Amino acid sequence: MLFKNKNSSNINEDQLALIEYAQARIKSKKKLFYHFSFFIIGSITSLLANLVFDYKSELTFLEYSWSYWLCSLWLLLLLFHLFNVYVKNKFIGKKWEKEQLKKLVEKQQIKISEIKAELEKEARIIAESELYSQKNPKSLVTLIAAASENNVIGKDNKLIWHLSDDLKHFKDLTKGHFVIMGRKTFESMPKALPNRTNVVITRKLDYKAENAIVVNSLEQALLEAKSDKQPFIIGGGEIYKLAIENTDRIELTRVHTTIEGDAFFPEINTNLWQEVSSEKRFKDDKNEYDFTFYRYNKIK
Ligand SMILES: NC(=O)c1ccc[n+]([C@@H]2O[C@H](COP(=O)([O-])OP(=O)(O)OC[C@H]3O[C@@H](n4cnc5c(N)ncnc54)[C@H](OP(=O)(O)O)[C@@H]3O)[C@@H](O)[C@H]2O)c1
Repeated sequence: MLFKNKNSSNINEDQLALIEYAQARIKSKKKLFYHFSFFIIGSITSLLANLVFDYKSELTFLEYSWSYWLCSLWLLLLLFHLFNVYVKNKFIGKKWEKEQLKKLVEKQQIKISEIKAELEKEARIIAESELYSQKNPKSLVTLIAAASENNVIGKDNKLIWHLSDDLKHFKDLTKGHFVIMGRKTFESMPKALPNRTNVVITRKLDYKAENAIVVNSLEQALLEAKSDKQPFIIGGGEIYKLAIENTDRIELTRVHTTIEGDAFFPEINTNLWQEVSSEKRFKDDKNEYDFTFYRYNKIK
């Protein structure tokens, strides 16, 4: 039966306890009902038997026949049963209710402290982000990416093309700067990018990355990079999506092909971004596709 399965993911332990309690109550009431029915049938039968086999017209109290004694004794038992089901159980039920209430209060307290911790974390992030914008008003946060015509940037945590000139372009722009990336992008690379300060964003609190600073939010990453006049956000899809709102510039290599993938660059909203330069390159033996370097600046 579903209710009896303690491992059921649909029902937690308290619900199960409640159901089991209700089932036990129904059972005890049913038993009392059967007892009552047996008592009625048994009493009538024994009184009839008494009438038929053992009738005496004039009886003193002590001379009452066996059926009267049996019925009286049984009635006492029935009353005792009734007392157990309705009176005694009421007290036990109260105790149970108290326990449940205590449990509920404990659970609520845990939830409250979780919410508190979450709020404190958010407040810290907001404070850090305010601190960042105050301390570094002139920095040019730049998002750098290569995306196909259909905005694909990667597949199976790998890059999907070989474009030698784009790699060079990336290296030239980011050299000496902070490069901020998602944990998956970091893991897609053989090692941290040399001649740059690598910052990895992850939700994992105990994550370790060789030759890289590990942080738990984009705001923390930007705070780490506050000394850099142009920190770069280098991907992947999740981090681009997270960062695009708070970025000042986009260096986008548009690869002129339509390709399948599982990581995407967000759509560029031309109401918010102005194309300020472009430079087309053509396919050759070192570059798998035609592509264009675009620079967009955030419209102030
Ligand atoms: N074409 C390009 O220009 C380019 C550039 C870079 C990457 N790529 C490609 O992009 C793909 C990887 O992109 P992706 O979207 O799968 O992963 P990603 O953005 O590199 O990393 C995602 C991870 O970042 C962490 N993260 C995301 N949001 C967070 C937040 N709000 N707070 C804290 N941590 C957060 C999480 O790490 P945890 O799971 O550890 O918590 C999450 O799993 C790969 O195929 C790569 O080759 C392409």
